Amino acid sequence: MKRYTITAALPYTNGPIHIGHLSGVYIPADIYARYLRLCGKDVVFICGSDEHGVAISIKASKETTTPKSIIDKYNKIIRKSFESFGISFDNYSRTSRQIHHDTASEFFKKLNSSNKFIEMTSDQLFDKNHNKFLADRFVTGTCPICSYKNAYGDQCEKCGSSLNANDLINPKSTLTSEIPILKKTKHWYLPLNKYENFIRDWILDTHKDDWKVNVYGQVKSWIDDGLKPRAVTRDLDWGIPVPTKEAKGKVLYVWFDAPIGYISSTKEWARKNKKNWEDYWKNDKTELVHFIGKDNIVFHCIIFPSMLRAHGGYILPKNVPANEFLNLEGEKISTSKNWAVWIHEYLEDFPNKQDVMRYVLTAIMPETKDSDFTWKDFQAKNNNELVAIYGNFVNRVIVLINKYYMGKIPKPELYTKDDEDIINSIKQIRDKISLTIEKFRFREANSEMIKIARIGNKYLADNEPWKKIKNNPERTKTILFISIQIVSALAYLSEPFLPFTSIKLKGILKIEKQIEWKEILSSNIIESGHKINRESLLFEKIEDAEIYNQEQKLEITKK
Ligand code: 2FM
Ligand code: ZN
Repeated sequence: MKRYTITAALPYTNGPIHIGHLSGVYIPADIYARYLRLCGKDVVFICGSDEHGVAISIKASKETTTPKSIIDKYNKIIRKSFESFGISFDNYSRTSRQIHHDTASEFFKKLNSSNKFIEMTSDQLFDKNHNKFLADRFVTGTCPICSYKNAYGDQCEKCGSSLNANDLINPKSTLTSEIPILKKTKHWYLPLNKYENFIRDWILDTHKDDWKVNVYGQVKSWIDDGLKPRAVTRDLDWGIPVPTKEAKGKVLYVWFDAPIGYISSTKEWARKNKKNWEDYWKNDKTELVHFIGKDNIVFHCIIFPSMLRAHGGYILPKNVPANEFLNLEGEKISTSKNWAVWIHEYLEDFPNKQDVMRYVLTAIMPETKDSDFTWKDFQAKNNNELVAIYGNFVNRVIVLINKYYMGKIPKPELYTKDDEDIINSIKQIRDKISLTIEKFRFREANSEMIKIARIGNKYLADNEPWKKIKNNPERTKTILFISIQIVSALAYLSEPFLPFTSIKLKGILKIEKQIEWKEILSSNIIESGHKINRESLLFEKIEDAEIYNQEQKLEITKK
């Protein structure tokens, strides 16, 4: 059985998550994991909270509290948001846990003892007033690559470049807005320049055709520019202590420890489930896939693979299907400006409408370029697609079977070519969904899924069983028998996209059996004589007033 390790970026635990996170990373990862499980594959879907790094310290000082209380607070909120949205992680860990500290420390020690690091003393930016070295988000300045004014010390979020703090033009301390001085300090560097050929051979020469253009393009431009050694330690007080005596007071760089979090989370899961974690990380038959946003590409395609390579024994990702960004009502989502749709707030305003948001965020997923979420489009997709197509088709079939046969599936008696064609076309859609999901084209897969209901509606409209019930009862039975097979197929085939609806629909149909994806519709899913439940609405119309409220909520944040 084919084995998959699927990872989704560990979210920073310095704030709640919003629709951009779901659309860019967690929904595509969840669709992929659910689909592979339905294909009978051996899947582990891994995530956890990223609880180190300067982002957490900054948030703690803003809220005049400790980093520990920040991570505890947001870990809870984030975890609940994922659970409520049906993101089906097999394990959601935390990088503050002992198992992770041990795993990351061991990883560092192995690289250190096999001389994979360069130790270097150099001038680093320092804030005199705070008596602190200014790493990562503690310093901002102009990006030397794209001239963006608010680039961080380790990365420019505008162009995605990975930076060293000393490269920033006009650096400023984010603690005091002071211009930093330079002070000498020693750090451990991973000489990425030594891994250039490895990255070139592995990605540029072999993945031109199967990796996304945006991912391949970013990697190519970094390699073309040449890689430089990169510090993996920091002079900070929040993080995993560097496990060597000479590094007292220093911690591991958050981007050194965070991706190792995928490994420690897998170990934690393996312990709980009596599995061998190494099967998921050290067996070259296992496919490793990292789901991330575009700002994480360099870390997952260059730095982490170089770390894995330096360590030895680990597999490399088979693919890194990074997405672009989601905007909101035409503007960039911004945590600091509160320009976002927060998941925990959405759940309060629209309880039980997780699938609606999942559907919309899949339909507009920023797969090849940035895309835009608007509340009006959210309403239109709910009312015109989920209600009018999916819900309507299912409802019509369930109502008619209850009305004509008291909910008992009729025995088909008179087949026509149309019936056979319709089942074949649904099977083709099933295979098209497979193909598109396997190629990480989730928007297309989602629109194929809804096409099943479209075809079902057309079949009903063309065959008009309600007109035949008196004069042609044989034909009516067959039409409704075929229709209920399509409804059942929809219950299975929509599971990766609409997991809550799938469960509800299976409940209405009273079907429980597991069917492997490629077997769906290869025989009847539901047999004659089986009794189904009465109809119950899967989706409800969203009124203008509800949309207006959401738009107003955003307007207020602008003021
Ligand atoms: O961008 C982020 O939110 C990071 N916390 C992602 C980390 S992914 C991984 F490597 F852990
Ligand atoms: Zn830049």
